[in-house]
Parts: sequence; C-alpha cells; structure tokens
Amino acid sequence: MSEQEQTFVMVKPDGVQRGLIGEIISRFEERGLKLVGAKFMQIDRELAEEHYGEHEDKPFFDDLVDFITAGPVMAMVWEGQDAVRQVRSMMGETDPAESAPGTIRGDLGLDLGRNVIHGSDHEDPGANEREIDLFFDDDELTEWERVDETWLY
Ligand code: TYD
Ligand code: MG
Repeated sequence: MSEQEQTFVMVKPDGVQRGLIGEIISRFEERGLKLVGAKFMQIDRELAEEHYGEHEDKPFFDDLVDFITAGPVMAMVWEGQDAVRQVRSMMGETDPAESAPGTIRGDLGLDLGRNVIHGSDHEDPGANEREIDLFFDDDELTEWERVDETWLY
C-alpha cells in the first residue's frame, strides 16, 4: 500500500442548500477514504480571497468569492492512498457539462460556477497541505486507525 495523504474537500454553498452533504460524504466513505476533519462553517471574504488567490486576476473571481461566501459550506479533510487524485477523479471536471456521469459534478451539477464541490488540485503540489492549514487548526484533525486498514484497502 502506497503513501497515505490528506486532501481538502468542501461542499460548496449550492451543495449545502440542495441537501447534498450526506450524498457526497457517502461517496468518499464508500470509496474507502477516511474522514479526519469536518467543519460546517461560513467563509468570510478574507478567507475566500486567500483560498482562491490563484484566481484573483480571472474575470470570474468576484463572482466566485460572492458565491462561496453566500451561505455555509461543509469543509472536510479526507485521508487515504493517493487521496488528492482519488477525490479529483471522483469530482469530475471543473465544468459539470464536461464531467462524466458517475462523477460528483457529472451526477449532481449543471453550471460551471455552481459545481457543488471543491477538492485540492492534484496538479498543484502542496495545494492540499496549504488548504488544510488554511481551514483547520492541527487540533481540529483527528487521526484514527481503521481496524481493517492493513488488508482491506
Ligand atoms: P478551478 O480551480 O479552475 O476549478 P476546480 O474547482 O475544478 O479546481 O476554478 C475554481 C472555481 O472557479 C471552479 O470550481 C468554478 C469557478 N470557475 C468559474 O466560475 N468560471 C471559470 O471559467 C472557471 C475556470 C472556474
Ligand atoms: Mg482548483
């Protein structure tokens, strides 16, 4: 079994409003990833602008910050083998219209700006650690051993 890693995942305000938190958590649990942190929270503009800092020069930046601060989100940390890439492949593409059925955005989303979920970018090394640190204090993460971990996954 290769290296375990952690990734930052967030059910965006549209996913919360539509009652999709449970559906999304179920998918990651069933895949075999392990929840190590979760926080139901309201993001303020300062945190939103820092989280999406890589997009600050993009034309969609202000809309993105408005949207992500429009209502509560479910921020989470999921752990497992290759967790960053596993989550990204389960999410689908950025645009739900490009996302295959079976993916979260392909099954649950329609609009590019309202795409239900955020996951750390696998093409940006260190994004997972950066985002986890931005949203969670160390003592808000709970490390735990699953009894069957050594042979099941
Ligand atoms: P990005 O980091 O490119 O996508 P992803 O969420 O898949 O990592 O963009 C961040 C969010 O910005 C994206 O989830 C939706 C929004 N966005 C737009 O509204 N318009 C766009 O053209 C793009 C590229 C993204
Ligand atoms: Mg991204």
